[in-house]
Amino acid sequence: MITKIKELLTEVESFHSSNPDEIENFRIKLLSKKGLVTALFADFKLVPNEDKKLVGQMLNELKDKALNKVNELKAALEVASHGKGGMDLTLPGYPDELGTRHPISIVKNEIIDIFARLGFTISEGPEIEDDWHVFTALNFPPEHPARDMQDTFFIQKNPDILLRTHTSSVQIREMEHSKPPIRTISPGRVFRNEAISARAHCIFHQIEGLYIDENVSFADLKQTLLYFAHEMFGEKTKIRLRPSYFPFTEPSAEMDVSCNLCGGKGCNVCKYTGWLEVLGCGMVDPSVLENTGIDSKKYTGFAFGMGVERITMLKYGVKDLRLYFENDVRFLRQFQSAY
Ligand code: DAH
Repeated sequence: MITKIKELLTEVESFHSSNPDEIENFRIKLLSKKGLVTALFADFKLVPNEDKKLVGQMLNELKDKALNKVNELKAALEVASHGKGGMDLTLPGYPDELGTRHPISIVKNEIIDIFARLGFTISEGPEIEDDWHVFTALNFPPEHPARDMQDTFFIQKNPDILLRTHTSSVQIREMEHSKPPIRTISPGRVFRNEAISARAHCIFHQIEGLYIDENVSFADLKQTLLYFAHEMFGEKTKIRLRPSYFPFTEPSAEMDVSCNLCGGKGCNVCKYTGWLEVLGCGMVDPSVLENTGIDSKKYTGFAFGMGVERITMLKYGVKDLRLYFENDVRFLRQFQSAY
């Protein structure tokens, strides 16, 4: 038996072929069910006990070598046949598809960047807030409708814990924790108890701005917002401020920008007015300053707040807010940007 194994070993070692049929025949001859190596394994039980160790080792070696030989020759065949239906290793790889940023993130980062150029820092506050930071310190009277369950998601009543309805709460936190001059913007998610439609959602994003120092005036506010509008919507953009009301600013205003789609001539996006409303703003009410321990005789400030979804809609002409939340890649893939 040992002689037979040795013979076969030599045969395996010297076998060479680049013909697929020959290689397959060689495999069948040695390793198939009726092959020579298989037959030797069957005869192994006849080997006297004292020789079993040696013969076993030799048999295993023969089997391994035969298997390796067949696999090597087959692999060599595949490489040799590339370009003839086999694998062509010289072809360029498929490019990996890169993801894109969410449009809300793109516009949020762009807004942050614009204000960073004016020296605004970024600040953040909690999404789960107390009544003080969302309403009371911001001068909301006790009977204000925003304090109603219909408008605000309450987590707990008495003391009230709620999901913040605007990022103005971060203003309060900043004023409580730092001394003027304060120049900061606060991006974040906000929550309102609204029925979801093309124009409203119960979760959306805002960016709040706050600037407090000595001698800050309404003219500073206006110039800051004009700079923002030019950077965001283009050099030709005009702004207008309409008087408005917010409990935490006095005077208060809403800012419109000239419609960048029709150039102010009137179209269905600006509802033929030539103007688009983009944010609320005003001079920080002296009592809000006092609520947070800032001397309102020494300091003045302005604040503004804008919805990121709205700015994104205007910038990219998105007509339905729900698209932002549906994660449809056909929608998301359209936004490529440096941000
Ligand atoms: N918090 C307001 C809102 O959610 C937006 C706002 C208006 C913020 C005027 C301000 C501001 O800071 O001065 O509708």
